[in-house]
Amino acid sequence: MRLSLTPREEKLLREFGLELIKPEYFPIPHKFVRRGIFIAVRGLEEFAKMMRTGEFYILTGIMPSYKLIHLGTYAVVESVKYFQSLSKITIIAIADIESLATRSISLDVAREYAEQYHIPTYLALGLDPDRTFFYYQSENPDILKIAGDVSGETTLNEMRAIYGDVDPSRIVSSLIQVGDILFPQFYKPMNGLVPIGLDQDPHMRLCRDYVRRTRHFFFDQVASIYIRLIPGLDGSEKMSKSDPENSIFLPETDPDVLRRKIWRAFSGGAPTVEEHRRRGGNLDIDVPFRILTYILDDDEMLREIADKYRSGEMLSGELKKITFEVLWEFMKDFREKLEYYRDYVRRGNVRWIRSAEDLKGVY
Ligand code: TRP
Repeated sequence: MRLSLTPREEKLLREFGLELIKPEYFPIPHKFVRRGIFIAVRGLEEFAKMMRTGEFYILTGIMPSYKLIHLGTYAVVESVKYFQSLSKITIIAIADIESLATRSISLDVAREYAEQYHIPTYLALGLDPDRTFFYYQSENPDILKIAGDVSGETTLNEMRAIYGDVDPSRIVSSLIQVGDILFPQFYKPMNGLVPIGLDQDPHMRLCRDYVRRTRHFFFDQVASIYIRLIPGLDGSEKMSKSDPENSIFLPETDPDVLRRKIWRAFSGGAPTVEEHRRRGGNLDIDVPFRILTYILDDDEMLREIADKYRSGEMLSGELKKITFEVLWEFMKDFREKLEYYRDYVRRGNVRWIRSAEDLKGVY
């Protein structure tokens, strides 16, 4: 079950020179592999090696610029989880400097959002709390050293070529992000894998170019794997936390609110029942169906829904009802875990690090 790419995804893949990744590249099965939610890789050679040897770390980052977290985060965390089981160590950057620079969020507020909302959510979605390490950009001196070196190795013209318009907050964030991606190697050089959305690809290009070029440090190369993002409820590119009507949150707490959101979601069904029975629904643009391709584990059930909806046998209302039920079950389970991990974070059980030094003996 694979849905067609959106025009924007096609454009980004073309612009960035990325190719679709085939299921053969993945060593263990997963719904995201079968359904093409892992869309592309930058650094295919390194990726294949990492999958073969298991000698790699995973690193991704969270921008703690808002309390609300939407369902799109599920796609990222589920991806990290998949690779966590194949790799040595998982590290999550809390991008408080990026939030400060690009969203004007103070470091204190960022910390509160991270510890009350983001970290508990990541753990509640199933990352292994014993094998997942978190740190704040503002507290990690290693990334500063790398950012300094990247700045010396990069010209403003290169930045312009990669990012288009460059302003200082963008430059600082991108230099720091390269620091995030590479600092674990100050402990020990090793390939790294970064699971992210396609929009983050410019950072990866900067980072990989820098790895080839730096004369002051030695790094193994890093690769990124791109995850298709869950669309906004109105069918727009992705859910956005600043647009509550357009997003499903983690968690949703009121079944009526959730039902209403799904009811209003953009449908690929025909305008009238007669027409729908005759020509069926369009799965590629149907938001409830697209959400199901992320959440629903049961392949058989997904295929049956797809067949019936495409043929017109199943109506949009029925598809929405199923989507609501699947999501509500998901939310019930998630809410329970979220409470547990809020407390877990509050009691100081998170594995915090401050630099590569703290990784000694861990991998
Ligand atoms: N820039 C990322 C975002 O906007 C967050 C981020 C910071 C990140 N550091 C990172 C992502 C390192 C991947 C790797 O969401």
